[in-house]
Amino acid sequence: MKRVSIGLLGLGTVGSGVVKIIQQNGDQIARRVGSELHIKRVLVRSLEKERRVQLPADTLTTDPNLILQDPEIDIVVEVMGGVEPARDYILKALTAGKHVVTANKEVLAKVGDEIFTAAAANRTDVYFEGSVGGGIPLIMPLKEGLTANRLRTVMGIINGTTNYVLTKMTEEKAPFDEVLKQAQELGYAEADPSSDVDGLDAAYKLSILASLAFDARIPLEQVYVEGIRAITPADIESARELGYVIKLLAIGKERDEGIEVRVHPTFIPTHHPLAAVQGVFNAVFVQGDAVGDLMFYGRGAGEMPTGSAVVGDIIDAVRNLQSKVNGRVKMMRQDKPIIPIGQTTSRYYVRMLVVDRPGVLAGIASCFGQNDVSIESVIQKGKGEDPVSLVFVTHEVKHENMARALDQITRLAVVREITNTIRVEGEPRR
Ligand code: NAP
Ligand code: HSE
Repeated sequence: MKRVSIGLLGLGTVGSGVVKIIQQNGDQIARRVGSELHIKRVLVRSLEKERRVQLPADTLTTDPNLILQDPEIDIVVEVMGGVEPARDYILKALTAGKHVVTANKEVLAKVGDEIFTAAAANRTDVYFEGSVGGGIPLIMPLKEGLTANRLRTVMGIINGTTNYVLTKMTEEKAPFDEVLKQAQELGYAEADPSSDVDGLDAAYKLSILASLAFDARIPLEQVYVEGIRAITPADIESARELGYVIKLLAIGKERDEGIEVRVHPTFIPTHHPLAAVQGVFNAVFVQGDAVGDLMFYGRGAGEMPTGSAVVGDIIDAVRNLQSKVNGRVKMMRQDKPIIPIGQTTSRYYVRMLVVDRPGVLAGIASCFGQNDVSIESVIQKGKGEDPVSLVFVTHEVKHENMARALDQITRLAVVREITNTIRVEGEPRR
């Protein structure tokens, strides 16, 4: 049986998952594919570090050229993370005529154009199923199975770490720092977890999904991002009282006037299908004009789920190598207008701390009214204390109007602090 040699760049969470799957299921994969997958060389930073997998002596190296310049290696798997040197190694592998599999959403979101152009120029392919949604097959359906459709919406929960943190904060009232540490120990978080917590990881993934769904170039700096750092137990409790849960949503929509791409915490009703997505699970909702509504659900991070997606890509590359084909699916990335966040509309939850005195509510309501912000409900918590909390839910309003109203409200002497502003999707069942 023919052997296909693979060079692995990285042996952390995902790299170890890839090795484990090939070691555990290698015979079955070989029978199904007709070629044996052979991990010839693995690049790491440290040869001294204890590893979660066993590999033959001399497989590990700190010299990237032993992979990038080895003519026997057909497929390079980049699971190191970050932009450099990942970008440099990917480009070198493509230039050397090797196919590349990567789970690195940051490098694709930031320099994807350069990478896909290099792949086309060298008649090689870049596979990236593991870059979004962990183990969920998501890229392949968007690239291939749904090609017949005009897609208008791709949205969902695409960061496992923040969903894990929000779930534990909601279900167990666990403190933020403690649950973030758990997510790191479980291998869900990025090397720098601020990328998860501040919404950047979800923004990288949304730019990949939206570019595939809408055949568009999505400049990362035009993806609006808010993370979950500001979410407090008080917000979670207010959400519960109002019939919602808080999720970090990534929303991509193609409208007549352009594309909307935003990542932010969102109140969603407890009966909404995304409210049931707990822990490390991700779910992505796609709407096509022919197929209708689709929902993809599964583990969005972790060693084995992501390893499953990466090994699936390796197998895809092997099959294309066997058939001597490449470039079957062209990356269509046209320039399309991105709708500025100020022009997008939403309902909002606003929590603020105010002095409890006659006329305070009227002053705040006047700021909302002057900016065309219509109030759906208001709840005061506490009486006579300084401060008391006021929770507003608004009707649908343009982001820029909301921002102007909040700016005026913060300047009122009776308002101690606006503690949070969170978008609201859907209505709870009454
Ligand atoms: P990780 O656990 O931090 O592992 C990174 C690996 O790359 C380590 O083995 C490290 O070597 C090696 N490495 C990093 N920089 C290097 C360099 N300059 N030269 C040589 N080796 C280097 O990361 P991970 O969680 O597996 O994530 C890898 C990639 O997959 C990232 O792009 C991430 O965004 C993506 N991803 C992760 C998950 C997940 O659940 N973790 C899911 C989907 C996608 P040492 O071991 O010697 O330090
Ligand atoms: N840190 C990422 C997450 C890994 O938590 O979703 C999966 O891409």
